[in-house]
Amino acid sequence: MSFSRAIKIAPSILAADFANFGAECRAVEDQGADWVHVDVMDGHFVPNITFGPATCAAIRPHIRGVMDVHLMIAPVDPYIEGFAKAGADFITAHMEAGPHIHRTLQAIRASGAKAGLALNPGTGLDGVENLLDMLDLVCVMTVNPGFGGQKFIDMTDKVQRLRALIGSRPIHIEIDGGITPDTAPIMARAGADVLVAGSAVFKGGSVADPAPYGANIRSIRAAAEGALGVAV
Ligand code: DX5
Ligand code: ZN
Repeated sequence: MSFSRAIKIAPSILAADFANFGAECRAVEDQGADWVHVDVMDGHFVPNITFGPATCAAIRPHIRGVMDVHLMIAPVDPYIEGFAKAGADFITAHMEAGPHIHRTLQAIRASGAKAGLALNPGTGLDGVENLLDMLDLVCVMTVNPGFGGQKFIDMTDKVQRLRALIGSRPIHIEIDGGITPDTAPIMARAGADVLVAGSAVFKGGSVADPAPYGANIRSIRAAAEGALGVAV
């Protein structure tokens, strides 16, 4: 997997049919998704529960490309090995999940996965500078984590400052929450390259009728690339 800042659309299966994850992952990839974003919630760090490593392992064979696992759990460290063994390409942990994010990121890299750091809307960039050498991705949350379908919180200033901090390092900037064809251009212009979208990708479609997934992915991508002046 070579590093690229090209726009990547990462559908969140939080908005998929939970009884049909395998088919949903295949459907969004067939319809043009670049990555598949997998939201793990524990009912403790966030007020919602989804699933754990066993479900991730079951989903893995149905994803051809990148499996991007977003851990909204605390503690994180006891579960890293489990998610790595489940086949996660990226494992992202929250800055707010505990006092030892440095140790957590070390453990993620040691597990063989790429390391991501997520920042809630209320969290600034303090401390990120000290972690840059251990990061493959920073996820800037544009909603408070826990649920799909929430209203976008504009983090333009944070993303612009993060983009400057990253410079030429091969670290992705991912945006998560409330991404639509209206909000994607704002974030792409600020410097994001991975756009997570749940409801805006899955709306109107199903495994039996996946074409709307493709139309939704194309319209988010076109809006983001249009903002960058990429020919679409
Ligand atoms: C929020 C999750 C997001 C969420 C995005 O806690 O981390 O990945 O699924 O969903 P939408 O795109 O509907 O805001
Ligand atoms: Zn997420």
